[in-house]
Amino acid sequence: MSKNIFQQQMIYLDQAATSRPKASGVGEAMRSYIEDVCANVNRSTYAPATDAALLVLETREQLCSLFGGGDPSHVVFTPGQTVSLNMVIKGALHPGDHVLVSPLEHNGVMRPLTQLLDDGVDFDRIPLRDDDQLDFDAAARLVRPNTRLLLLTHASNVSGTVFPLEEAGAFCRGRDIAFAVDAAQTGGHLPIDAACAKIDALCVPAHKGLRGPNGVGALLLSPEFAATLEPLITGGTGSDSHTEVQPDYMPDRFESGTPNLPGIYWLHAALAKLLEEGVAARHEAETALLNRFLTGLDAIDGVYVPGTRDLTRRVGVVSVDCTKRRDNAEVADRLANEYGILTRCGLHCAPNAHKTYGTFPQGTVRFSFNSTNTEEEIDAALSALAELLA
Ligand code: ALA
Repeated sequence: MSKNIFQQQMIYLDQAATSRPKASGVGEAMRSYIEDVCANVNRSTYAPATDAALLVLETREQLCSLFGGGDPSHVVFTPGQTVSLNMVIKGALHPGDHVLVSPLEHNGVMRPLTQLLDDGVDFDRIPLRDDDQLDFDAAARLVRPNTRLLLLTHASNVSGTVFPLEEAGAFCRGRDIAFAVDAAQTGGHLPIDAACAKIDALCVPAHKGLRGPNGVGALLLSPEFAATLEPLITGGTGSDSHTEVQPDYMPDRFESGTPNLPGIYWLHAALAKLLEEGVAARHEAETALLNRFLTGLDAIDGVYVPGTRDLTRRVGVVSVDCTKRRDNAEVADRLANEYGILTRCGLHCAPNAHKTYGTFPQGTVRFSFNSTNTEEEIDAALSALAELLA
């Protein structure tokens, strides 16, 4: 055992928390903003300010082409995924409204919703079938006249199970239910077409699969949904400065204050790499690693791995409950300190997902990877886990 294990080896398998490494070239993009541009947007017409405004617009266009967005003006930059989700939940819902969610939602969804219970907003969780997929027949029975929103994680941050966006979008259409998606674990990992899936609000963090900055989120809104959504934050936009009333046009309606411009420069560079490489290629590489890891886990006694085995319905997020042999926290700690393997242990801010899988309150050791990880790293994790549980 070595106290300096990280100097010898560090295997990062916590990509669901934040991606590592970030895209190459993003440091230079941030430097160029800070040292060469260093101007605000939407407030002035001198050259550095218009250069920055152009890059911000290009970044909206990149996000549109990546996620099937129709209009770059309906791509809103936010301070991150949690803020995006709060903007959707608190901006769309009114007392008396009812919401449908999956049983696997993260607290980024459940805490704002629970906060609104006192205001007369109610929610139901759609049950899962035996194959770990949403039971849309049961969902249809849960719909009420006041059901306003279906808010769904695209993939669970506990099990990696992916829900079908197009089926969920079709479910909402015709029932007059808005459809919002938490793509925290799939943006940049899986192809997403917001128009095809009829998504009204797509929330994507920049720092996970996009390999962009922490503290920046993208919120893609449909025109119909944007028109009815109340802004959570209002303030200066650099536009309509003659009035003290928030502009009602996009994206200013939802973008008050100075945006995180170094972050958006970083995101622009990261998206350029992603668009060049292609989400499908990254997904294919990630799925091969996922298959290798799940197959390797089959040979280790005493572990429980929740979630589907269908690789077409799963991303590279794998929870392992080791409690038949060892305490999960001990396993995660020893993986880090003796093998340099970094995972996330516990309940992953998703208590109901763990209750659904029977891993509450003990939680799991979560291994999560992306296409930057290697077969050697997967094999090292499997062999360390086998050794610790022997
Ligand atoms: N939601 C992130 C995770 O699952 C932070 O780790």
